[in-house]
Amino acid sequence: MAENEEGNSSRKVIVTKDGPYIVEGGIPLTKDIIVDDEDGVPREWEIRARFPEQESYQLCRCGGSSDKPYCDGSHLSNGFSGSETANVTGFNKRYKLYEGPGLEMKDEAGLCSALQFCHRAEGAWRIVKNRSGDPEARDMAIDMAQKCSSGRLVPCEKRTGKELEPKLEQTIGVVEDPGKKVSGPLRVLGGIPVESANGNRYEVRNRQTLCRCGRSKNKPFCDGTHLATRFDDGDESLR
Ligand code: FES
Repeated sequence: MAENEEGNSSRKVIVTKDGPYIVEGGIPLTKDIIVDDEDGVPREWEIRARFPEQESYQLCRCGGSSDKPYCDGSHLSNGFSGSETANVTGFNKRYKLYEGPGLEMKDEAGLCSALQFCHRAEGAWRIVKNRSGDPEARDMAIDMAQKCSSGRLVPCEKRTGKELEPKLEQTIGVVEDPGKKVSGPLRVLGGIPVESANGNRYEVRNRQTLCRCGRSKNKPFCDGTHLATRFDDGDESLR
């Protein structure tokens, strides 16, 4: 097996059939908070806490554990169906391209996890199309797209098409969105492989979000349903 970016070939997330995510390789687990700006729009990620280091651990995927973010076996008795329905076609075969005077942006709407970092000002798409010739607006659009942990939006250089991906440490973040008073997905950063219950590997990406509320229709990935269903994992930052 090829080593991943951080030289640790054992790091991966395994989706189990109708069960939890098994995390292997000592991947750091953090509590990641969405911080809104004065207009109530997501602006920054705050790493609020680090969970104890473990070589291997199991994360709840059904949304029913009493020991979140960890699995407590609730999926065995709550009827959880974790069938994986995600599109396995690679991102670069699926995206729609938005072009502007100073920037391009790839967009695969099927990956949206409703974190809404793209909502600043008139929205990332309009900024790219209409204002990206202005360096300040271009930088803002890049920042918005790069903070999209789902990997839905990928900013690219105008002339070369080179993807402008941030360098991200390999971590799994348990997302909380106090502004909307909801708990969010697991953001899996830095190119950590995700393996299906059938043994196949999903495309390895720098940014992706895994469902932990149990309600996504795009499992194992988050599709934003946690927002509509007001998923609350009991975290005090939501109170
Ligand atoms: S955590 Fe987002 S849909 Fe389940």
